[in-house]
Amino acid sequence: MKDERPRDLPGLHNIVAYHEGFYSGGVPEGDAALTLLKAMGIKTIISVDGAEPDVEQAKLVGIRYIHLPIGYNGFDEKRKLELTRATRDALQDGPVYIHCHHGKHRSAGAAGAVAASLGWMTPEEAVERMKVSGTAPNYEGLYACAANATELDPKLIDAVPANFPEVSHPATFVKAMVEIDEINDHLKLIEKAGWQSPADHPDLVPAAEAGRLADLFRISAESTKAKSKPPTFLGALKQDAERIAALEAMLIAQEKYKDIKKLSDTFKQVQASCKDCHTKYRD
Ligand code: HEC
Repeated sequence: MKDERPRDLPGLHNIVAYHEGFYSGGVPEGDAALTLLKAMGIKTIISVDGAEPDVEQAKLVGIRYIHLPIGYNGFDEKRKLELTRATRDALQDGPVYIHCHHGKHRSAGAAGAVAASLGWMTPEEAVERMKVSGTAPNYEGLYACAANATELDPKLIDAVPANFPEVSHPATFVKAMVEIDEINDHLKLIEKAGWQSPADHPDLVPAAEAGRLADLFRISAESTKAKSKPPTFLGALKQDAERIAALEAMLIAQEKYKDIKKLSDTFKQVQASCKDCHTKYRD
């Protein structure tokens, strides 16, 4: 179970075991991936991604979902306790698969924190596992969640209400737009600071902001509102999600990269796309 590197299976990416029967990885892509998870004995999937999980498809193969979204800057004590209880209880039914979108950052942070909270590994070992998952050093908040997790008193875990939702309803389209606007402003400040955390805003982690923005575009593309619009509308949201995901990847690789112009060019395309869509469909 101590994988030295992540495993890839058809439709399942970046799988890393954090304990016997407890795996972190990417979102299962399609029915084949769910069938594979079933073959691995998985009984429960925990999603920490923002997008709505495909609960019905999972049910068809006899897997249940628990949806406890987390951010790229980490999560609070309450969420850690919930994730810990959800994992501990679910394991009594059989193996558990925890995923975000790519299975590199958020699910690894969650899995690491849970593994340390249940005393399966030391916080140091949990951090090492996250490195196996490929969590980028930029995501300090996620690393801190694992690094600060210590074995919890079972009484504390038992005190957490166990009525976990199979879908935490994501924000509506308008709410997503409001948050998109806010993060877009954060990225403007980051751009001004040369694509670094601004001196007067050290809390803004460039890659984390980009990750969240990509997520929000992906989530809004899945909303009922977007699906009721012409295909070009949906296409624009998906394209922005891809552009921002590329921006996130560049920011993670920035040590080697430092191509400020390419970062700004990509960001400029997104700005143009906001205006273009608003002109056509909103104003
Ligand atoms: C593919 C289309 C599309 C793209 C791309 C898009 N938006 Fe929007 N946006 C909309 C629509 C449609 C509304 C109106 C929603 C409503 O009122 O129901 C909206 C609303 C908003 C609002 C107003 C929310 C409120 O309080 O009513 C803001 C702010 C906003 N968008 C910011 C942005 C920013 C910033 C970007 C780019 C980073 C962006 N949008 C990209 C379609 C888009």
